[in-house]
Amino acid sequence: MKGIEDYIITIPDFPEEGVMFRDVTSVLQDEDGFRLAVDLMQKKLEGLEFDVIAGAESRGFFFAAPLAYNLHKPFVPVRKKGKLPRETVSIRYELEYDVAELEIHRDAIKPGQKVVLIDDLIATGGTNEAMIKLVESLGGEVIKAVFLMELAGLHGRERLKGYDVDAVITYP
Ligand code: PRP
Ligand code: ADE
Repeated sequence: MKGIEDYIITIPDFPEEGVMFRDVTSVLQDEDGFRLAVDLMQKKLEGLEFDVIAGAESRGFFFAAPLAYNLHKPFVPVRKKGKLPRETVSIRYELEYDVAELEIHRDAIKPGQKVVLIDDLIATGGTNEAMIKLVESLGGEVIKAVFLMELAGLHGRERLKGYDVDAVITYP
């Protein structure tokens, strides 16, 4: 039987030299790979009590939505700037090879709600640090962040120090 790591194709020097790109689409495009990834991420949430799942556009949506559906929780999409139609709060942040801005609807999370963050991958941790700031600015409490992949060499876990961070696969 294939392990989840067998589904992930690594592309050297994409989108720029020096980046080892871990391509989540190679998991998604295989029906067994996709199911295995969702199941393994869901295991990380077993026994946890929480109110909301939040995921960042775009790749976070691939896993946050099926997990929210399976666990019968609301799914809050955190989107790139200019996409959400109602009142938002926003934050700028840096990526491994880019700068971006994320937004969340102001009414998406109620004060005191326990929030789980879901994403395909943690690299520098910039995206999910921004997610935490957005959730906390609305009074939510981030109680766990679950990733399919962790790029340990980029020290994202240290950036999210003090938070419960878990990943299915860790690359050095
Ligand atoms: C990727 C990935 C994570 C983030 C990880 O998203 O899906 O959200 O980068 O990097 P970080 O830990 O250094 O923040 P990206 O911003 O490339 O957008 P996409 O999901 O639309 O491809
Ligand atoms: N997002 C940021 N860094 C990445 C990487 N090395 N592979 C895939 N997605 C990423």
